[in-house]
Amino acid sequence: MPLTLSSPVVAPSLQISATPFGSLPDGSAVQLFTLDNPGGVTVCISDFGGVITQILVPDRHGERADVVLGYDTLADYVADRAYFGATIGRFGNRIANGRFTLDGVTHQLAVNDGAHHLHGGPQGLHKVKWDAYTMNLPGAVALVLRHVSADGDQGYPGKLGVTVTYQLNTDNELRVRYHAITDQPTPVNLTQHTYFNLAGQGTVLDQELTIYADCYTPIDRSLIPQGPHLPVSGTAFDFRVPRAIGERIGDPDEQLRHGSGYDHNFVLSSALQAGFRPAARLVDRASGRVLELRTQEPGLQFYSGNFLDGSLSGKRQRYPYRGGLCLEPQHFPDSPNRPDFPDTILRPGREYRSESIYRFSTES
Ligand code: GLA
Repeated sequence: MPLTLSSPVVAPSLQISATPFGSLPDGSAVQLFTLDNPGGVTVCISDFGGVITQILVPDRHGERADVVLGYDTLADYVADRAYFGATIGRFGNRIANGRFTLDGVTHQLAVNDGAHHLHGGPQGLHKVKWDAYTMNLPGAVALVLRHVSADGDQGYPGKLGVTVTYQLNTDNELRVRYHAITDQPTPVNLTQHTYFNLAGQGTVLDQELTIYADCYTPIDRSLIPQGPHLPVSGTAFDFRVPRAIGERIGDPDEQLRHGSGYDHNFVLSSALQAGFRPAARLVDRASGRVLELRTQEPGLQFYSGNFLDGSLSGKRQRYPYRGGLCLEPQHFPDSPNRPDFPDTILRPGREYRSESIYRFSTES
């Protein structure tokens, strides 16, 4: 039976399965992995780009909807430029002019966002086929994706071995864990670019967002961080108490103009608690669906889907302006050029480790 926008909960058991998703121009076969849990959560992930294509979650009445934007075919994901559902790397977000100096050597990366390098470059980790392994664990199923990015890939120094583990457990948590090692010093900042819409359709403007951040990073017109962090207090960036995304998105605020809405790095305020800090909470009052995000990262890019314009479609809908939002846990944009930001350089002999948890629930 095809999955419809609102398919009934079938009380699946904890399981992971694979189906063919098509083949790439070079002939390699791509798979789609489906992770189910008894709570009625289904997550589909492709070994192309580590892309999350679907997340079905129940509403307060048990009706499931797909709460992520996506396409219908592999070819659409190959052509995609909006990063729907994608694993992002080697460096999430922007590096100004695609250039940085590391240990006295200047490196020029591929540029794909005007003059800047964005989300790992045009052929970043979102455009590669990963090696995939499935695992059945106590209380969880997992998809493990592995890829080796060659020395010089997209201009980055060093050969980088990357592992991304997607784990769905019986607590309705999707845990995304990243691991990387290198043979030369190199910047690493891995993240996930799923567009969420807890209603399953329409815009996200009525959905209520909390971001646990006292400060955010102001940007210039090309979305590169400028100057020191600014306090959110008294501004449209104050999401410390739940606020409808649309409430102040149209404020006459220079930063909102630069981002064409929200497209900013928030500096997460809480200390790590049992290894994670609260990052964000998104609520759709109409359906009762709730998404809570915890992370080990210091920052969260909140992007309010400002570049969506109705031209992209999938799952029997056209995605409207602000029809989805991204909550991207990450280190701060342009960190390799900002000695004042937390360090993003991975060195040989060290391990990059980061984990974020997306938990789905409902409220009445
Ligand atoms: C990120 C960026 C946005 C935009 C989207 C993809 O989240 O911050 O500016 O490039 O990716 O469209």
